Amino acid sequence: MLELDREKLPNHLAIIMDGNGRWAQERMLKRIIGHQKGVETVRSIVEESSLIGIRYLTLFAFSAENWLRPRSEVKSLMALLKKYIAMETPRLMKNNIRFNVIGDLRELPADVGDAVQSAAARTAENTGMVLTLALSYGSRQEILTAVKRLAEDIAAGRISSETVDEKIFTTYLYTYGLPDPDFLIRTSGEMRISNFLLWQLAYAELYFTEVNWPDFGKDEFYKALGSFQARERRYGLTSGQLRNRS
Ligand code: FPP
Repeated sequence: MLELDREKLPNHLAIIMDGNGRWAQERMLKRIIGHQKGVETVRSIVEESSLIGIRYLTLFAFSAENWLRPRSEVKSLMALLKKYIAMETPRLMKNNIRFNVIGDLRELPADVGDAVQSAAARTAENTGMVLTLALSYGSRQEILTAVKRLAEDIAAGRISSETVDEKIFTTYLYTYGLPDPDFLIRTSGEMRISNFLLWQLAYAELYFTEVNWPDFGKDEFYKALGSFQARERRYGLTSGQLRNRS
């Protein structure tokens, strides 16, 4: 396995977990079996990330558009989520991981919403990695909601439009309090962002792998992190400027 430089890990890793359905279909299995295998990958990547010292991990678990999938698949995914949260909370406690969610939680079935809130409350004092699940999440919806709330605050005189800058705007996003991701991984060969963290990913390094999420094991994870470590992050500056800064 690749040797990693612990000093140069992403601070906030975001992952689009894709390819559960294809993994199953390639094996003549039902799609839900792919999601079940996907949960095992979630478990191992969460544990490994926390172990190596990643501070923030955000997983795209269910998009706003995923509600349009066949009802039976949505139902199974919701049941899996609830089960995962209930089963993992003791492990999150043991590993000092803080659980967090972003998305339009009003859309979730009540029992899933309750499970999510209770896991967030139970782990709220943990000081290790912050694990965020994006649930019923769409980035354009998030930005629109932020704009509407900001407009209300301006109309009510709580804030002046003159003072609105990037820093203030981000306080209206679901991700308020989280740093921007510096690394995004997407599995299964699709090279899209798919309405995920459009504002927050502005400067992130992107990594795409052909491997489907259920097959995204430790080796693949280390390969992705190795790729991140080999990159130079310039934020619009030149290499020379960067060298002079350090
Ligand atoms: C993409 O595979 C994956 C999802 C839509 C959901 C991801 C969910 C899990 C990994 C399981 C539950 C999550 C947690 C955090 C416990 P796909 O169905 O889009 O695959 P396809 O593109 O091959 O059809």
